[in-house]
Amino acid sequence: MNLSPALYEVLYVSMIAPEQPLGIVAEIAAAARVANARMDITGLLIFDGQRFCQQFEGPRKAVLKLIERIRNDPRHVNIEVLHHGPLAGRRFQNFDLAFSTVEDVEALARMEQLDGDAAIAAFRAVCGELEY
Ligand SMILES: Cc1cc2nc3c(=O)[nH]c(=O)nc-3n(C[C@H](O)[C@H](O)[C@H](O)COP(=O)(O)O)c2cc1C
Repeated sequence: MNLSPALYEVLYVSMIAPEQPLGIVAEIAAAARVANARMDITGLLIFDGQRFCQQFEGPRKAVLKLIERIRNDPRHVNIEVLHHGPLAGRRFQNFDLAFSTVEDVEALARMEQLDGDAAIAAFRAVCGELEY
């Protein structure tokens, strides 16, 4: 019998809000790490200097609540959820919130054009090139 709540994931891209100092990125990542550990959420946040791309996973209710909070966060704009849905196993078992920058600014721009499985495939391809 599996007593753990069903896993769910969200993948979105967004852009840092105008006039935001770049220092907020480290602040967001540090606070999120602590909060995610409490919510049993794991995932990865990527920043390319302009765009964010984040995947996170955990119990369905916690994931859906978090994406609502993130959507309402004025520190970023143009938030586009590319994929959300059930997940068989965690992609980031060992990270409350891994963080990475990406040099190729086209990578996240291209992802913005995708959704569903294609978006997840592109995300996995980007992840393959990261060190975190
Ligand atoms: C790009 C981005 C990613 C974020 N990722 C997370 C996250 O993974 N976990 C988290 O708790 N908050 C994250 N936040 C912060 C939330 O938007 C929100 O500020 C935080 O959950 C506290 O919400 P509250 O002030 O309503 O309690 C993120 C914010 C931004 C702009």
